Amino acid sequence: RRHVLGLADFSPSEYDTVLQTAASFREVLSRRTKKVPALQGQVIANLFFEPSTRTRSSFELAAKRLSADTLNFSPGTSSLTKGETILDTAKTYLAMGANMMVIRHRNAGVPQTIAAEMDRLDTRVGILNAGDGQHEHPTQGLLDLFTICCLLNFDYPRLGLLAGKKIAIVGDIIHSRVARSNIWCLTASRAEVHLAAPPTLLPKWFAEIVDEDNSNQDSSSQIPRRQLFIHSDIEPALKDADFVMTLRLQKERMSAHLLPSLREYHQHYGITRDRLKLCKPDVKILHPGPVNRGVEISSDLMDDPQFSLISQQVTNGVAVRMALLYLMGSGSH
Ligand code: CP
Repeated sequence: RRHVLGLADFSPSEYDTVLQTAASFREVLSRRTKKVPALQGQVIANLFFEPSTRTRSSFELAAKRLSADTLNFSPGTSSLTKGETILDTAKTYLAMGANMMVIRHRNAGVPQTIAAEMDRLDTRVGILNAGDGQHEHPTQGLLDLFTICCLLNFDYPRLGLLAGKKIAIVGDIIHSRVARSNIWCLTASRAEVHLAAPPTLLPKWFAEIVDEDNSNQDSSSQIPRRQLFIHSDIEPALKDADFVMTLRLQKERMSAHLLPSLREYHQHYGITRDRLKLCKPDVKILHPGPVNRGVEISSDLMDDPQFSLISQQVTNGVAVRMALLYLMGSGSH
């Protein structure tokens, strides 16, 4: 595919291609040189209109490991401050020879709009969504999937490994593009996905999109019926869970009346050692980062390698983003 804008329409074979390509690049990254010439001569523009640490740096490193040239952009010191539009910004990078653009924006749909404009202009530029508003964060979903699959089978990570696993996603789901992308990929794998959050942070439409997807299925569909369960109490979500994904309270996307007291939130929905006793004994915890320590997860648990996959998620992000840049870029020039 030319663009990666979301996971809603990803097929099982596309997931497996990304997982296996990422496993190959993980092997490259374990070598002393860590670099391959796959995208030599290509230009990758990182257009982050919203703050980022992990996604932006790992895309840059992934591009460099593939020998591409990278352009970074900071909105505060760019000509956006003089009134230039986002589309004109993208066209400026196009004119400099960008082959792929990685876009993050606080509004849903911006990467899609830029992709449509690149297609309208008949360019071969690929657009990667690095997080758009509350809509999707597909590369985070894929790196989370890769991290879980590697834990189940390090040498041969694949979608089918998750069949029958129980995964709890806990926290500020209504504002979370990470939750949405993870719902698409984890339910595509035949995992059971349980969402838990205070009622004010639980969107009804997550269930509706999955119902609609299920009701459109015929016997030829490659995606099995999606198994998604929604709870306003945390206990049924955690019971016998194999994996727990906890999410940050996104204060920057909340009006003041929605923001719960942080102490109460931790008391009712925080992931603690006590609460983990409800899960399978070998349960693992994921968090996309950044973390509010002591709010969605207790600080000591976050740093405990027996349970926490947080550092592995960040490490795997480079291999997964290398895989996506390689798969999108290697055929295009
Ligand atoms: N998980 C994630 O998107 O982190 P950053 O905002 O630091 O990129």
